Amino acid sequence: MQSLNCVVFPVAGRGTRLLPVTKSVPKELLPVYDKPVLQYAVEEALAAGAKRLVFVTHSSKPAICDYFERDKALVEVLEEDGKAKLVSALDDISLGSDIEVIFVEQDQPLGLGHAVLMAAEFAGDAPFGVILPDDVILGMPCLSEMLSDYKAGHMIAAMEVSAQDVSKYGIFRPMADATIGNLVKADALVEKPAPEDAPSQLAAVGRYILDACIFDALRQLSPGAGGEYQLTDAIAADAPRIGLTGRRFSGQRFDCGTHDGLLAAGNARASFVKGAMAAE
Ligand code: G1P
Repeated sequence: MQSLNCVVFPVAGRGTRLLPVTKSVPKELLPVYDKPVLQYAVEEALAAGAKRLVFVTHSSKPAICDYFERDKALVEVLEEDGKAKLVSALDDISLGSDIEVIFVEQDQPLGLGHAVLMAAEFAGDAPFGVILPDDVILGMPCLSEMLSDYKAGHMIAAMEVSAQDVSKYGIFRPMADATIGNLVKADALVEKPAPEDAPSQLAAVGRYILDACIFDALRQLSPGAGGEYQLTDAIAADAPRIGLTGRRFSGQRFDCGTHDGLLAAGNARASFVKGAMAAE
């Protein structure tokens, strides 16, 4: 597959782990050094060729929508003040006219599966991407790496985690002789298992390429872990029929839904930016 037309961004969550700032600022707009968390996700989608970006958001987070609005008055003021560098920083984040941006509201926190289902009418029949912006991946664009290997079925970015951390993730059940290079074939995925029940230590990270048949599985879901409609359960239901692949990635992943993850990602990004400036 050459490119993904549609990428879905579930951004309706309240970000309670990052309170108090998330009382008024969406966690997706918190900075990782020089850009908001959400900007990294959007850039990754565009790198994978996306032309339609679907944000599944919440009415309490209007700032997400504002972020994508052009602010002509601000540009004029910056130009009058001769601040060309800042104008170009705004240009860098403005989306081309060929990019369609859609906002869908998820009013109740019913889970990731429910959030993705909200995007059904916009995703079309072709495989589409899902990016969980909290999972910031620096370095090689992860979704593009996945796309280069994607053939069919569902694919999720994968990384090894420690035994005590399996209960924070969706965990793959790899098949026998499952590994070919960076790809791991799996026949099941379990959401946040207890360490003693985990089928492996290979965890799902927030990048998905999903066959459009996922929407049928999502419509048939019952609430799963945490009483929520879990995307993991719909993927697991499809896996034996259409296939599930974990794709190990080369970038560095940070959990930017936590203070420590934001700090670590910011430091890594700062080193990169300063290194690039020194090399100029
Ligand atoms: C979600 C998914 C989980 C995945 C994780 C990656 O969980 O449900 O399967 O491993 O993202 O970050 P959350 O972190 O939203 O609870």
